[in-house]
Amino acid sequence: MGNFVVIGTQWGDEGKGKIVDLLAEYADYVVRFQGGNNAGHTMVVNGEKFISHLVPSGILQGKTCFIGNGLVVDPEVLVGEINYLTSKGVDISPKNLRISEKAQVIMPYHKQMDLARENKKGENKIGTTGRGIGPCYEDKVSRVGIRFIDLLMPERFKQTVRTVLDEKNFQLKNYFGMETVDPEEVIAQYLGYAEILAPYIADTSVELMKGILADKKVLFEGAQGTHLDIDHGTYPFVTSSSTVSGNACCGSGVGPKDISGVIGIVKAYTTRVGAGPFPTELLDATGDYMQSKGAEFGATTGRRRRCGWLDAVILNNAVRLNGLTGLVITKMDVLGGLDTLKICTGYKYNGTVMDTFPTDLDVLAKCEPVYEELPGWSEDISTVKEFRNLPLNAKRYVQRVEELTRVPVDIVSVGPGREETIVITNPFA
Ligand code: IMP
Repeated sequence: MGNFVVIGTQWGDEGKGKIVDLLAEYADYVVRFQGGNNAGHTMVVNGEKFISHLVPSGILQGKTCFIGNGLVVDPEVLVGEINYLTSKGVDISPKNLRISEKAQVIMPYHKQMDLARENKKGENKIGTTGRGIGPCYEDKVSRVGIRFIDLLMPERFKQTVRTVLDEKNFQLKNYFGMETVDPEEVIAQYLGYAEILAPYIADTSVELMKGILADKKVLFEGAQGTHLDIDHGTYPFVTSSSTVSGNACCGSGVGPKDISGVIGIVKAYTTRVGAGPFPTELLDATGDYMQSKGAEFGATTGRRRRCGWLDAVILNNAVRLNGLTGLVITKMDVLGGLDTLKICTGYKYNGTVMDTFPTDLDVLAKCEPVYEELPGWSEDISTVKEFRNLPLNAKRYVQRVEELTRVPVDIVSVGPGREETIVITNPFA
């Protein structure tokens, strides 16, 4: 019983969306605390598939959803999602969707800067989603960002946009050789969004605490994954926010005493989208098998995800960094049909075996994964409802993950559908 954080343990795309949907049933509030529309997961709205990037899918279950202060929000995307959901008959209003007045606003120049930086980097590019996430967080930290509360103060907003664009346009034109942005156009466009969004904007920290005191259960929904974290990830091949569980507090304005546990989502193998190191990556037929059977394409950019074996070194990094109290293994069904499965248990470097994740990417590049092998299974497990009914080798795989991480596995997901789930322990129950 209590309030749980759900976090990705790898490089994002672990299947958090499905698990958040599942657990949201037991929560009253669903809260996003970092990132922006670089994230994305599929909702099915009246039989039609729709990828939401900002509105938590808890909205479909009648939950109150919060967009916390730790996010960077593109109002155009948010208004688009609200309009889409409303047109499909979903009840979405300022009653059940709350936006922190402290959340940062993604401006058109952030998107331009994101693309311009990536182009300039050429071969060394990070492979960002191009949504302006990094430049918006940069402005937040530089203290020239625009917050949702500023949208409600038109005169101050106009002044800030004009001042900020003075510098940005200089950079866009003279450094990047790009088109400049007209401040008056941006002002008109964004004051339009402000009018629509004003009733949703609030001090969400205060509202969350009121709910917690009234015994409402909160699900904190992480985006991306632990190894994309700005501090702890494979820097600089990371996103620009803190993706670990500690940021659930900072990014929502709720203190740590109100968090009961942290659930880490582990894909049964590993994927990564965008550039950056990936020690267990498979550039062979087995990697292709995972990619096609797991339909591994990015939800936001449609890019093909890189695939590889499960890596216990990164999992243990996630266990430590997030204080994980339970694990959920997703996409177990995808591994079916492979004769032998491998789990990386350490990295060989300079004749020694390391069991911690190196910070230096040059060291990481020279690391060779040390694998242990486990026998696979060939049965279709997607209809299995109880852990005890899994094939022996699938059970062994799950148990080995528990042994290697010393964290209990609460849920095993065996297919994309809600019913394709084995619940061993429900953290909310
Ligand atoms: P950005 O967040 O758009 O700045 O992208 C930085 C890195 O994070 C890139 O490698 C992206 O592919 C990756 N990334 C950002 N959001 C996600 C996500 O939701 N899933 C997986 N990778 C992501």
